[in-house]
Amino acid sequence: MSLQKHLIAPSVLAADFAKLYDDIQMVNNSEADWFHIDIMDGVFVPNISFGFPVMQAIAKHATKPLDVHLMIVDPDRYLKVCKDSGAAVITVHYEACTHLHRTLAAIKELGCKAGVALNPHTPVSLLKDVIRDIDLVCLMSVNPGFGGQKFIEQTYNKIKELRMLAAGVNDNLLIEIDGGVGHQNIGALLRAGADVLVAGSSVFAAENPTQTIADLKAVDPQLQQI
Ligand code: DX5
Ligand code: ZN
Repeated sequence: MSLQKHLIAPSVLAADFAKLYDDIQMVNNSEADWFHIDIMDGVFVPNISFGFPVMQAIAKHATKPLDVHLMIVDPDRYLKVCKDSGAAVITVHYEACTHLHRTLAAIKELGCKAGVALNPHTPVSLLKDVIRDIDLVCLMSVNPGFGGQKFIEQTYNKIKELRMLAAGVNDNLLIEIDGGVGHQNIGALLRAGADVLVAGSSVFAAENPTQTIADLKAVDPQLQQI
């Protein structure tokens, strides 16, 4: 378990695209740590969100790192444009990479942190031989493609298993949880070993998104009662 405070990454997918600038400023002025940017291609996932031109527009105004989640097939084709569009973290899906080790090296060569996302059905143990090459593992706690879905409880076991897999080999590994995260489960996720919490609808659908981010950031897993 890391002693560092957890990170909150609001997912822009849940923002109001007609007033994106306002929502970016809200995140800039909040206690959020990163922007979570969901890029979808309609092939890897059954939905299309937005692409790199929109991401570039976000990057122009964002004052915090962009954590990019590529839900696309053949992500190698887009790593360079992703970096050039402002990415600090680039996360590819395990299920979309035939040569994951090579892809991770390419991301690092661009100067970005390298992340791997696992779909809910993909076991953590499949990362055993690349765990030391990864900066961040994004455990999908919903099936990727849409915001506002129900959190999958098996995620807790995956966090613990992943922390054990990384122990002594990659103790700086960041474990990110994506999907269905909010005040109702953040304490338990932190106790299980999560470091980065993505929050889409729980932030942007809240009456006061800035306060919601502050509340998520303030959670102390040791003190919080379930
Ligand atoms: C789902 C995306 C998530 C999504 C999370 O495919 O990867 O980042 O925006 O949204 P919520 O927090 O609403 O589940
Ligand atoms: Zn995501």
